[in-house]
Amino acid sequence: MSAAGGTGAPPVALVAGASSGIGAAVARRLAARGSAVALVGRREAELKEVAESIRAAGGTALPLVLDLAEPGGPADAVAMTTAALGQVGLLVCSAGAIRLAAVHETEERHWERQLRVNLTVPFLLAREVLPGMRERGCGWVVNIGSGVGSEVVPGSGGYGVSKHAVHRLTELIHEENRDRGIRAVTVAPGWVSTRLAARPADLGVPEEEVLDAEDIADTVAWLLDRPARMSVGPLIRVEPSASRAAAGDAMTRHLNRSRAEGAGRAAEENR
Ligand SMILES: NC(=O)c1ccc[n+]([C@@H]2O[C@H](COP(=O)([O-])OP(=O)(O)OC[C@H]3O[C@@H](n4cnc5c(N)ncnc54)[C@H](OP(=O)(O)O)[C@@H]3O)[C@@H](O)[C@H]2O)c1
Repeated sequence: MSAAGGTGAPPVALVAGASSGIGAAVARRLAARGSAVALVGRREAELKEVAESIRAAGGTALPLVLDLAEPGGPADAVAMTTAALGQVGLLVCSAGAIRLAAVHETEERHWERQLRVNLTVPFLLAREVLPGMRERGCGWVVNIGSGVGSEVVPGSGGYGVSKHAVHRLTELIHEENRDRGIRAVTVAPGWVSTRLAARPADLGVPEEEVLDAEDIADTVAWLLDRPARMSVGPLIRVEPSASRAAAGDAMTRHLNRSRAEGAGRAAEENR
């Protein structure tokens, strides 16, 4: 682990949104690298499954069943992690909510939900861990942003706005804390095959053309391995190479398809 990890010992990690997809893959990777990892999410069975897979591989995992969007959720997550594993040295925010719609079609509750989960939760988690990192003179904050946080994609609505804002939040954290040995980076993926995204087959895209959660875990691991003299970021975009799998185009097609079907996929409601 590089200098932002401090003494060289793998830092205690807190992964928000670790019950599936990118967060689960990153949590497994961090545990394999020696970090004790707190896994946060709402779905208990899925969290326990990820924790079990980490323990089976010899790692240390603490599943925390919490709704981070609830008042006090982020503070509880950090307090429980600190009590059980020690001070958080690496924060990864992968919790995400998505509800695609044009601005004039966006319901206020969906707007607020996305801003809460995708922006306010990373802010609150960072605010909890940064004072300790500043005192110790080391730490990492990795936020999972999105390609649509950098590109203006019609229909990305509150999701695109929240991701754009979390990119800026991460830059602020980086600039405000770089002299204290803390690094903050946004990893902004394009289309990754997870439950949150459209299914490739539904949009006529071969599964192998979209990214896999492991690709994002690879990127995070690569980032953590950079030597202390290197500052990477503040934004790393990771996109599929195939143009038909480009996130913006895919999102527009997904939105149009959802409109044609009526209310869109019900499963998107609370993500
Ligand atoms: N898949 C893509 O194409 C793609 C592209 C760009 C960016 N991203 C971003 O990548 C991140 C991870 O998404 P994913 O694709 O891996 O999908 P995912 O498998 O659905 O992961 C989302 C995670 O967020 C957690 N979460 C959501 N609301 C939460 C809440 N209120 N409290 C606690 N945890 C909450 C979910 O856990 P519970 O349901 O158990 O709470 C889940 O673990 C998101 O920030 C997403 O915006 C994804």
